[in-house]
Amino acid sequence: MCHTGPARYPVAMLRIDYANCLSERVGLHGLDPARLDPAGEAQKAVEHLTARLEETRGTGWERWRLLPHALREEHISACRAVADERQGQYDNLLVLGIGGSALGNIALHSALNPPTWNLHDRVREGRPRLFVVDNVDPANFGAVLDACRALGGLDRTLVNVISKSGETAETAAQFMIVRDMLRRELGDRHREQIVAITDPAKGTMRSICDREGYATLPVPEGVGGRFSVLSPVGLFSSMMVGIDVEGLLDGAATMDERCRVPSLRENPAALLATLLVELAARKGKTNHVMMPYSNALYMLADWFRQLWAESLGKRVDTRGEEVFAGFTPIKALGTTDQHSQVQLYREGPNDKVIAFVEVEDFGEHDIAIPKGLGVEALAYLEGKTLAQLLNAEKRATEYALVESRRPNLTIRFPTIDAQHVGEFIWLWQMTTAYAGLMLGVNAYDQPAVELGKQATFGLMGRRGYEEHLQKVRQTLVETEWVV
Ligand code: PA5
Repeated sequence: MCHTGPARYPVAMLRIDYANCLSERVGLHGLDPARLDPAGEAQKAVEHLTARLEETRGTGWERWRLLPHALREEHISACRAVADERQGQYDNLLVLGIGGSALGNIALHSALNPPTWNLHDRVREGRPRLFVVDNVDPANFGAVLDACRALGGLDRTLVNVISKSGETAETAAQFMIVRDMLRRELGDRHREQIVAITDPAKGTMRSICDREGYATLPVPEGVGGRFSVLSPVGLFSSMMVGIDVEGLLDGAATMDERCRVPSLRENPAALLATLLVELAARKGKTNHVMMPYSNALYMLADWFRQLWAESLGKRVDTRGEEVFAGFTPIKALGTTDQHSQVQLYREGPNDKVIAFVEVEDFGEHDIAIPKGLGVEALAYLEGKTLAQLLNAEKRATEYALVESRRPNLTIRFPTIDAQHVGEFIWLWQMTTAYAGLMLGVNAYDQPAVELGKQATFGLMGRRGYEEHLQKVRQTLVETEWVV
C-alpha cells in the first residue's frame, strides 16, 4: 500500500492531493488552475507572505514557530525532568484545562495511543491512564473523579492543571475541587501531586503555584493556547503516556521546512491557505469539513476546529474595517458519517470544501476479513482487509463528491505515527498563519470570546462585573415567547 508519487517528495511525508478542488474536476465550483500558475498573482502573493512570515518568525505571537527549533531542547528537558520523577508512581493522570489547554492533549493521545489505553494495564506498560477533562459538566467531572478514586485512588492520581492565565473559570473551578479533595485526603503531601502548566512569570495560576510550591512548566510567552500543543502544554502529558515527543517535533520541523519555500505549488501551507481562501471568496465555499478516515485522527479534526474558527473568525481586519471574516470548520468521520452527513455534502448547498484525511498503511493494526461465510452477496469482502474497505469507501466518496461537483482534497498520512501527527499539526498552524494574512485579520486574538467570559463573571457574582450582570438581565428579560 506504499504510495509512490512524484520523485520530489520523499515517500514518507504527508501529502496533499488537491486535484478535486480545481475546475478540471468540479467545473465552475472549482478553482481555475491558472490561479496557481507560477507566474500568476497568487504565486506573487505567496512570495510576499512567505517573506513576511520569515520576518515575524519568533516575534510577538509568533513565538510558537520556535517550538520545534530554538525552544525544543529547553522544553523537552524541563518536561522530562518533571515526568521522570513521577513516572511509575501514578495510575492516573488527570489533565484539567479547556480550549487550547486541552484539545491538543486529547488529539495527541487519541491519535497515538490505542483507544483501549485506559482499559488494559497490558497496553499501558506501567504508564498512567489519561483523563482530560475539558468541561464543567458536573456529571462528567464527577464520573471521572469517581473513576480515579476507584482505579488506584486519589493518592495514585497525578493532576496536571493547564491554564496560561489561571483566570479561566472552568479550569479554575475544576482545579479548586480537585485540590480541595487532594488536600483533605493527603494534607501537605497533595503538593507533590500537582503539576501546573502556566505562564512562567505572571497570572493567577502563577501566583497560586508560587504560594503553594507546586511544580510548574511554562506556557511560553508569545504562544497562544491554540498554537501551544507542541509546547509543554501537550508535551508533558504526552511524555507521561509514552508518546514519542521527539518524533512530534521532528515532524513539525520537517513540515516547517516545506512551509518556508516561497513557491505556491511546493509549500503545502501556502497552497492550502490559497485554495481555501480563494474557494471561499470566489466560489462561496465557506464551510470546511475535516473528515479523517481513521478514528485515531478524528480528535485532530476537533483540534483543527478550534484553530480554524478562533483564529480566522473576526469581525474586523487589522485596519479596523468590518470584514466578518472566517470559515465554519466541521468535523466528520469516515466511514461513519457517510451514513449520516454525505447525503447533505452531495446534494445540499454547495458551500463546502471537504478535506479527507487518509491513512495509507495501518500496518500491524489491519485486520483480514475471513473467507468461508458462503454468501454470494458478501463474497467480495472475503480475503480483503478492513483498511482496504475503509480506503475504498473513502475513494468512492471522493468520486461521488466529484460527480456532484463538490470540491474536496485529501491529506495522506503514510502511517499514523508521531512524526506525521507533528507534520499535520504544523501544516494547519502554518496554514492558519497564511490564511490570517490573506484575510487581513489577526489570527492570534479572540476578542469575541471576552464578552461571554465577562458575563459569566457577572452571573457568578465576581466583584467588578456587576454591570455585565445587569446587561445580561436586561437583554435576556423573560418574555411570552416560550412554548
Ligand atoms: O486558544 C486559546 O487561547 C483559548 O482556547 C485558551 O486556550 C482557553 O481559553 C484556555 O485559556 P487558559 O489557558 O488561559 O486557561
